[in-house]
Amino acid sequence: MKIKRKAQKILRNSVKQLYSTASIRRSLIRFAVARLSGDYRARLYAEALERPHYGYCVYNAALLAKKLGHKRISILEFGVAGGEGLRSLEYHATQVSRLLSIEIELYGFDTGTGLPDPVDYRDLPYHWQEGFFRMDVEKLKGSLKRAKLVVGDIADTVKTFTATYNPAPIAAIMFDLDFYSSTTASFEIFNIPRSYYLPRVFCYFDDVLGGNVELYNSYTGVLLAIKEFNEGRDEKKIDRAHYLLAKPLQSKWYRQIYVFHDFAHESYNSFIGKRNPQLSLKPV
Ligand SMILES: C[S@@+](CC[C@H](N)C(=O)[O-])C[C@H]1O[C@@H](n2cnc3c(N)ncnc32)[C@H](O)[C@@H]1O
Repeated sequence: MKIKRKAQKILRNSVKQLYSTASIRRSLIRFAVARLSGDYRARLYAEALERPHYGYCVYNAALLAKKLGHKRISILEFGVAGGEGLRSLEYHATQVSRLLSIEIELYGFDTGTGLPDPVDYRDLPYHWQEGFFRMDVEKLKGSLKRAKLVVGDIADTVKTFTATYNPAPIAAIMFDLDFYSSTTASFEIFNIPRSYYLPRVFCYFDDVLGGNVELYNSYTGVLLAIKEFNEGRDEKKIDRAHYLLAKPLQSKWYRQIYVFHDFAHESYNSFIGKRNPQLSLKPV
């Protein structure tokens, strides 16, 4: 019995050590790649660049679009504030565009005047207040290289978006609107004609983890907005990218990546896997 317990302890400690050496190794690789490699894909795989979650969405959205035969896509950021996120999207889009020979349009949606008044408890007024994250619209416009700003309440701008911009199919969306009410309103984007979006849209949700003040949960905020969206229809769902959660070394943002699925989209079933894989029986 004593020996068994000792063996279990040794096993536990070696697993812990394995994990910590693996994460130290990862940090070292990240450090080296960030300094030595100019290769965007290597930096993306090593997460050795700013906002790797944005890069992940842009790259994978572009890959999917290419497999489905698209030459142009749109990437959106919902909630822009000062514009750091949109500028980061510009960086990733420029790199991915070059790498995969695909055109990428970028659109950033925001009131321009910061957070609206929280509607009720579901917008977490204990954490957010009206006017947080005001934007200097002219300054941001002047510093953007390719992204377009869509200024106004998202409940309105999302409805006029396709008529105003005739955008390329939407392939990824960065959601960072903080509120339940704003996020729910923004989901109207998934009711536009299907030709304006890919059958699967990569999504990053900023406000699903938080900390000990936000205490995000399934009954308020963005998690509630996602839950209600999924309960409200059969053919469209937003769910996590589960394979990321199975990676042995976790980054926090893996739990913030979701994918919008439209099962009734005309290209949802288009085959994009490897052609004719065979699994032969190995001799014993
Ligand atoms: C946390 S900030 C976004 C930060 C930005 N994504 C970044 O990474 O730098 C949230 C933004 O959502 C915007 N927002 C919230 N509700 C909105 C609504 N109903 N319509 C438009 N913008 C909204 C606010 O104006 C605010 O700038």
